Amino acid sequence: MLAPQLLAVLAAGETVSGARLAEAAGVSRTAIWKQVEALRGRGVPIESRGTAGYGLPWPLQMLDAARIRAALPKAARARLGALDLYWEIDSTSSELQRRGAQAPDLSVVLAETQSAGRGRRGRTWLSPPGLNLYLSCLKRFDTGVAALSGLSLAVGVIVLRALDALGVRGAGLKWPNDVLARDADGRPGGKLAGILVELSGEYQGPCAAIIGIGLNLRLTPALHAQAGQPACDLATLCDGQPPDRNHVAAALIAALADGLPAFEREGFAAFAGDYAAHDLLRGLPLRLSGALGELEGTGAGVDARGALQLRTAGGLRRIDSADVSVRRA
Ligand code: BTN
Repeated sequence: MLAPQLLAVLAAGETVSGARLAEAAGVSRTAIWKQVEALRGRGVPIESRGTAGYGLPWPLQMLDAARIRAALPKAARARLGALDLYWEIDSTSSELQRRGAQAPDLSVVLAETQSAGRGRRGRTWLSPPGLNLYLSCLKRFDTGVAALSGLSLAVGVIVLRALDALGVRGAGLKWPNDVLARDADGRPGGKLAGILVELSGEYQGPCAAIIGIGLNLRLTPALHAQAGQPACDLATLCDGQPPDRNHVAAALIAALADGLPAFEREGFAAFAGDYAAHDLLRGLPLRLSGALGELEGTGAGVDARGALQLRTAGGLRRIDSADVSVRRA
């Protein structure tokens, strides 16, 4: 467990000598050097500062389950089934899948780093330790998978509500549920958060959703390059000073503990107004690709089930699943 200790000592953002790090961890300086290299290999930008030692370009907060719990409103704390934090796990969503029927409703799993973070459409979700947030939440429903259309859009709204509670402005939604920064003219910018909703259970009976959220707080130039698409982070939206990671985690968990039961009671109707207010695609020229082939039109909001509405030459089309990109006008 040397890596978490090392990162915790560097977290304050000061330069720390190899000798002090070795003493704090009770290991040799060679062992420290190896861990520094390992953390760099995972995307943590540890700088070598000559004979002075090592340092991070900015301070960070290590995740701390007790601090997250303490930052939760009482009602959210009471609703939570479990709250578990790992230093490293393959995927927080896979962990909830493994727990299966044992896991209580509204169980939350967080990790500092994921070795096999999963994105949509089989993509990998880069998960360096200390920089961003990786969180999954289990929600059970009695209504059946058939009634859960719109859930993944609702989760996008939930993430925006959490950001709003933290005072972070400047984010919006790209259908179905990417949370993007707005660029200078209000158009869709880099991706701030990804949401992966995995459903299991009966079509019209008991079922469960595992909701995985990856939220960028600090991206390095290397991570931007690896992301494979334009990306953004809270640091950029907050003039270089993102909120404390434990507060961000608590805000997300509180918004989930509030929003998911609301979805259970009222469905997407409880989120439709907020979705429309943050819809970055409305009125823009779009290109869709998917099972239906290629389709072009203008974004016209979403319907009551959360399907994307596209105004085309042939009339209004409703789309349940597609890859969407904005065309240059
Ligand atoms: C996307 O491709 O946009 C969805 C990304 C979802 C990533 C999160 S990180 C926490 C949870 N665990 C995973 O393995 N994936 C999700």
